[in-house]
Amino acid sequence: MPETKVVKIDPRNMKDGDFEEAVKLLRADKLVAFPTETVYGLGGNALNPEASAKIYAAKGRPSDNPLIVHIADPKELEVLCTSVPETARRLARKFWPGPLTMILNKSGIVPKSTTGGLDTVAVRLPSHPIARRLIELSGLYIAAPSANASGRPSTTRAEHVIEDLDGRIDMVIDGGSVEIGLESTIVDLTGEIPLILRPGFITIEKLRSVIPEIEYDKAVVSHEKNENIVAKAPGMKYRHYAPTGDLTICQGDLEKVIETINVLTSAREAEGKRTAVLATSENFDRYSCKIVKSVGSRNDEEGIAAVLFDILREFDELNVDYIYSESFEESNLGQAIMNRLLKAAGYSLITV
Ligand code: TXA
Ligand code: MG
Repeated sequence: MPETKVVKIDPRNMKDGDFEEAVKLLRADKLVAFPTETVYGLGGNALNPEASAKIYAAKGRPSDNPLIVHIADPKELEVLCTSVPETARRLARKFWPGPLTMILNKSGIVPKSTTGGLDTVAVRLPSHPIARRLIELSGLYIAAPSANASGRPSTTRAEHVIEDLDGRIDMVIDGGSVEIGLESTIVDLTGEIPLILRPGFITIEKLRSVIPEIEYDKAVVSHEKNENIVAKAPGMKYRHYAPTGDLTICQGDLEKVIETINVLTSAREAEGKRTAVLATSENFDRYSCKIVKSVGSRNDEEGIAAVLFDILREFDELNVDYIYSESFEESNLGQAIMNRLLKAAGYSLITV
């Protein structure tokens, strides 16, 4: 097992020398976690099957769940993909660098060990200065899933990476907290109509300004753990982002939601269970439960996205058995917030 080294880099004041050791490690097919604008990524050489095997092992991730290949120049699309459709070029011009991942048909240089056996490859050009400089200086394509243990909430700061992966990876670049807090939007461009496989910061409304024909994949809008709907992004079929406590989302009229959560949490507390509420700041004072955490104002979706995974981790630290959460409007960024929350809850949803 490697010892995990933590190297601090200030994204506003960095020198190429800061990256020297990280670059050496990546070129030797070792693993380096680094910040991106969405969440921390666990990086390894995307063209080396041994490096991707190490990534799967470190995360405890099933090897049929493909990795995203990170690049620093949009021209690399031509190298990684057999053909680059006009839609991909338009999306790249508008949203790269940034939190958008595109699925395209892979070229021969991308090993199937990186793509979970698929003939397609996920490609992203991140905007975070540390991520970009690291990719550039390494001269590699960097495969990077979210830098968390498989099944746990993604990591938004280096301490969380250490919490999950200490001793399992070679280095973490600590570049502070990430900006967005939810993983990139994934768009599949290999079918007849472009599909959103994972909602994120780049919303369907924004995407439609460039490619009006884009739709959600069925698995994204379904609220059920429906075995008949096959998730096109293999990762979306697994239980995900999950806190250790049992999470239930309550949706419907807000007054009724608050009332129901109060009834349910009182009953759990009476059973002697450690119980918590995930609330918005507007309703924070209205819960009787001993542990209540606020994700911020309902009107500030970006704020909610930024803290959601952190708060799920805090519930773990408090060893709670049960968590009850308010639900969110499924429009704009709310779509991505509810998508992650539903997965974290294993689709346990009460409508009142
Ligand atoms: O924001 C992000 O995308 C972060 C940062 C580090 O870039 N990365 C990330 O990677 O979230 P990961 O591995 O945690 O999630 C990637 C998702 C998985 O659900 C995977 O199944 C899907 O992308 N995916 C990757 N390649 C795919 C492919 N060829 N076809 C369909 N889905 C794919
Ligand atoms: Mg992930």
